[in-house]
Amino acid sequence: MSSRKRIVVLGSTGSIGRQTLDVCRRLPDRLEVVGLAARTSDELLQAQADEFGVKNVALMQVGGLQAVTDLATLPEADLVVVAVAGVIGLRPTLAAVEAGKQVALASKEVLVAAGELFAPLLKKHKTLLTPIDSEHSAVFQCLQGYTPDQVQKVVLTASGGPFRGKSRAELAGVTVKQTLAHPTWNMGGKITVDSATLMNKGLEVIEAKWLFDLSLDQVEVVVHPQSIVHSFAFFKDGSSLAQMGWPDMRLPIQYALLYPERVESGLKPWDPASTPTLTFEKPVLDTFRCLALARLSAETGGTAPSAMNAANEAAVAAFLDGKCGFLEIADLVEHALSSHEPQEVTLDNIEAVDGWARATVRRQLGLG
Ligand SMILES: NC(=O)c1ccc[n+]([C@@H]2O[C@H](COP(=O)([O-])OP(=O)(O)OC[C@H]3O[C@@H](n4cnc5c(N)ncnc54)[C@H](OP(=O)(O)O)[C@@H]3O)[C@@H](O)[C@H]2O)c1
Repeated sequence: MSSRKRIVVLGSTGSIGRQTLDVCRRLPDRLEVVGLAARTSDELLQAQADEFGVKNVALMQVGGLQAVTDLATLPEADLVVVAVAGVIGLRPTLAAVEAGKQVALASKEVLVAAGELFAPLLKKHKTLLTPIDSEHSAVFQCLQGYTPDQVQKVVLTASGGPFRGKSRAELAGVTVKQTLAHPTWNMGGKITVDSATLMNKGLEVIEAKWLFDLSLDQVEVVVHPQSIVHSFAFFKDGSSLAQMGWPDMRLPIQYALLYPERVESGLKPWDPASTPTLTFEKPVLDTFRCLALARLSAETGGTAPSAMNAANEAAVAAFLDGKCGFLEIADLVEHALSSHEPQEVTLDNIEAVDGWARATVRRQLGLG
């Protein structure tokens, strides 16, 4: 039996996927790549398969979602990295959990839409789910050795994105290019837009609720433009812990893959003296409405977070495609959320609501 952890990377051609492979490249004695999946990037996928000697590859546009889901249950895999953009990762993640794999989760949309389905399944299959999102990795690291009843709350940090401090009037005409110019993180297109609207933080609040078994009131958000503190855990005795580092996703990725071990990463450690000023401020909810809309969907419960998430995915795609303005993203999400009648959380209902919310956004935009 191999002593290396054998991993499948779903979304290997994306920002998280490529950085995951970089971690594997640096730690060949610890990690072996046994499966790779992407949507359409066939040339890069093939180049990755050649470099890592991977025989099991899936291209969604050729084999459909089933091919990606099959890869998530590959018998020789120990761990599945879910790093596809969006809720499309839901079925593959469920399949990986049911097949008893460790899951390293980047695709927060999966827990947003289906946290209620996952919580009992993770317990039933005794699945180890390690978060890749830097904020959740930070909280996960801070909570090591503590029991949930000792936790008062967690505080997720947000960079504030490229439009921090701007008024609604100033945001009315911002372009796609301006929106994609994130000040501290280099990420895929969808999450970069979500960071600019603060929807990303709203999704992360819901993700944290499910990952750490917290109430929504126990998950707060603070804007921290330097992106050095990746999040905090506050304890009942009044003490708080933070996890810090340069904004480099390879650190939380490595932790998620090798947990609970810490080995040399080759990454430059943060130097406190070089960032003497760390600042924190409250998010401006009237301007960045998506954060409150995401919270509202989670308070409503049932399939409301699925509707909110799918509407956001459709609205962001429309924005990137030049079909709507930046501020319209929140309007479209709000419209879908207020027209939605929440249902019980089942896989079928989630998928039906997902389709309905996307169609609702397209209709609002006159796109069919
Ligand atoms: N980037 C970050 O720093 C970061 C940080 C925290 C969390 N996350 C989360 O991680 C996830 C991925 O983000 P990203 O920035 O890496 O996105 P990205 O750069 O857009 O990459 C998305 C990846 O998913 C693949 N993909 C999309 N749909 C697929 C499908 N149906 N089947 C198989 N593969 C599919 C894409 O393949 P193609 O190349 O063929 O399109 C690509 O490999 C998101 O949920 C995001 O919120 C990202």
